[in-house]
Amino acid sequence: MKIIIVLLITLSTFQNAIAHYVLSRFIANETIFPEWKYVRRVTPNTTTPLAEHTYPHYDISSPNIRCGRGAGTSGPGSEIATVVAGSVVGFRLDLWNAPYVMFHDGPLLAYMSKSPEQTRDGLKEYDGGGEWFKIAQRGPYNKTRWFAEYNKRFSEFNFTVPPTTPPGFYLLRGESIYPHDTFNRTQFYMNCASVEIVGGIESESEPGPLVRFPGAYDDYDEGIWVPGEVWNRTDLSRYKMPGPEIWGAGV
Ligand SMILES: *[C@@H]1O[C@H](CO)[C@@H](O)[C@H](O)[C@H]1NC(C)=O
Ligand SMILES: *[C@@H]1O[C@H](CO)[C@@H](O)[C@H](O)[C@H]1NC(C)=O
Ligand SMILES: *[C@@H]1O[C@H](CO)[C@@H](O)[C@H](O)[C@H]1NC(C)=O
Ligand SMILES: *[C@@H]1O[C@H](CO)[C@@H](O)[C@H](O)[C@H]1NC(C)=O
Ligand SMILES: *[C@@H]1O[C@H](CO)[C@@H](O)[C@H](O)[C@H]1NC(C)=O
Ligand SMILES: *[C@@H]1O[C@H](CO)[C@@H](O)[C@H](O)[C@H]1NC(C)=O
Repeated sequence: MKIIIVLLITLSTFQNAIAHYVLSRFIANETIFPEWKYVRRVTPNTTTPLAEHTYPHYDISSPNIRCGRGAGTSGPGSEIATVVAGSVVGFRLDLWNAPYVMFHDGPLLAYMSKSPEQTRDGLKEYDGGGEWFKIAQRGPYNKTRWFAEYNKRFSEFNFTVPPTTPPGFYLLRGESIYPHDTFNRTQFYMNCASVEIVGGIESESEPGPLVRFPGAYDDYDEGIWVPGEVWNRTDLSRYKMPGPEIWGAGV
């Protein structure tokens, strides 16, 4: 009996954990870089074995919503990727160091925040508490499928850095949201790469609208606390992407 109970608990923990992931590998120049090379390392949640790094975030009022658990101070432990404005970058979802193909059904989003201090060390010390703008998003693919779900055979979220992004040192935040129809049960998976943007096209347009994390999302947001038809994927046309408008081309 005891053995069965232990087994059941183990199984349910595993089931619970298996759906979680982390966006730990940055993609640039058509190369998928090693875990935590350019992405800021997150703090393990030691109370959830099997999901130490991948335990989801629920609390959008926590500063951890910026770049993941503890990533406000883990900048010095990762490198800064040079990224040419207008090029394709991305994040690969991993699970315990292995590629993981099952996205949670929901939107994928990407944001950038310029480091207040424009030096390599300044970026490494930056906690993400400044202003962010959205550069890309993928929502529903059609009425009954999410882009992420449609794309399930892949484990990457690739997008273009706007060609008019001003050169400089930035945090680049990738995010996968698993929206729930139960209040405050929506799951957030987000991680940040440290990047230096080079090249690009000059533009009069300043990045914006600017938001902060926490602040960009609200627990009552229609893109966060969703109608039942969105949760059970009978009518995704009712979904409204959360956060600000996209700046730039938004591919
Ligand atoms: C994302 O980009 C990487 C590197 O170019 C590529 O290997 C991967 O297939 C792309 N994934 C998707 C879903 O387009
Ligand atoms: C760690 O995981 C436990 C569940 O095992 C959860 O209750 C707790 O909120 C998590 N802590 C953080 C900081 O995510
Ligand atoms: C939502 O849950 C978090 C804990 O994950 C809690 O801190 C927060 O107060 C809750 N928000 C509301 C509006 O109840
Ligand atoms: C990407 O390629 C550019 C040259 O086109 C190079 O300057 C940059 O260092 C490369 N970035 C990474 C992360 O390898
Ligand atoms: C959505 O796209 C999928 C994959 O192409 C397809 O199987 C499904 O029928 C589509 N749903 C609607 C409502 O068009
Ligand atoms: C989906 O959710 C809506 C709203 O809660 C409900 O009316 C509908 O019956 C559900 N459909 C299915 C197939 O679960």
